Amino acid sequence: MALSSSYSSPFLLLLLFATAAIASSDDGGEKTTHLHYYLHANYGGPNTTTVTVVSPPGNDSGSSFGSIAVGDHMLKEGLDPSSTLIGKAEELAVQASLGSPAYLSAFNFVFTAGDYNGSSISILGRAAPSDAAIERGVVGGSGMFRMARGYTISRVVKSTGPDDFLFVVEFDAYVFHY
Ligand SMILES: *[C@@H]1O[C@H](CO)[C@@H](O)[C@H](O)[C@H]1NC(C)=O
Ligand SMILES: *[C@@H]1O[C@H](CO)[C@@H](O)[C@H](O)[C@H]1NC(C)=O
Ligand SMILES: *[C@@H]1O[C@H](CO)[C@@H](O)[C@H](O)[C@H]1NC(C)=O
Repeated sequence: MALSSSYSSPFLLLLLFATAAIASSDDGGEKTTHLHYYLHANYGGPNTTTVTVVSPPGNDSGSSFGSIAVGDHMLKEGLDPSSTLIGKAEELAVQASLGSPAYLSAFNFVFTAGDYNGSSISILGRAAPSDAAIERGVVGGSGMFRMARGYTISRVVKSTGPDDFLFVVEFDAYVFHY
């Protein structure tokens, strides 16, 4: 028995080193991706990309507290409406502030072209229209962005109106993923 254990310990040691090597190569695989794109949204008109599904209950005396909207916007490479479509931004927005409006805002950015075609990132945060720049968290993703985390910074760069509101929002996303 003494003989067999003196042979097995170097073998065990080798296995332990092998396991450690595999674990460290998994840990070292984290990447950072900076995405830059433009969200094009229509609020109203024949090609609206948003719908209010819940109007505020009770007497809405100016605040839209409690309203819920759903959107399916376009993600494009540029500010120009004719620039390349790279995906869609599926949105849920809940006006969740009793004071000046602020939205509990959730997006799935679903890429349908380019390097990330078939992958998505999930975004959650607070969006107060009064803020010049809005920061949200990246809370997950799929495909190439599986287990993603990070943040987005966005700002409205174009809006028109009053009957056919077009909004273009510039997004920078910093995404950590494997
Ligand atoms: C709505 O979309 C259709 C089809 O893409 C397009 O022909 C039309 O010009 C659009 N209307 C507006 C107001 O953008
Ligand atoms: C709703 O609230 C406004 C402002 O407080 C008030 O003037 C109005 O009478 C209210 N309307 C109803 C139907 O209660
Ligand atoms: C995106 O991926 C889908 C599914 O693999 C494919 O059908 C489609 O042609 C791709 N689109 C582009 C623009 O590469």
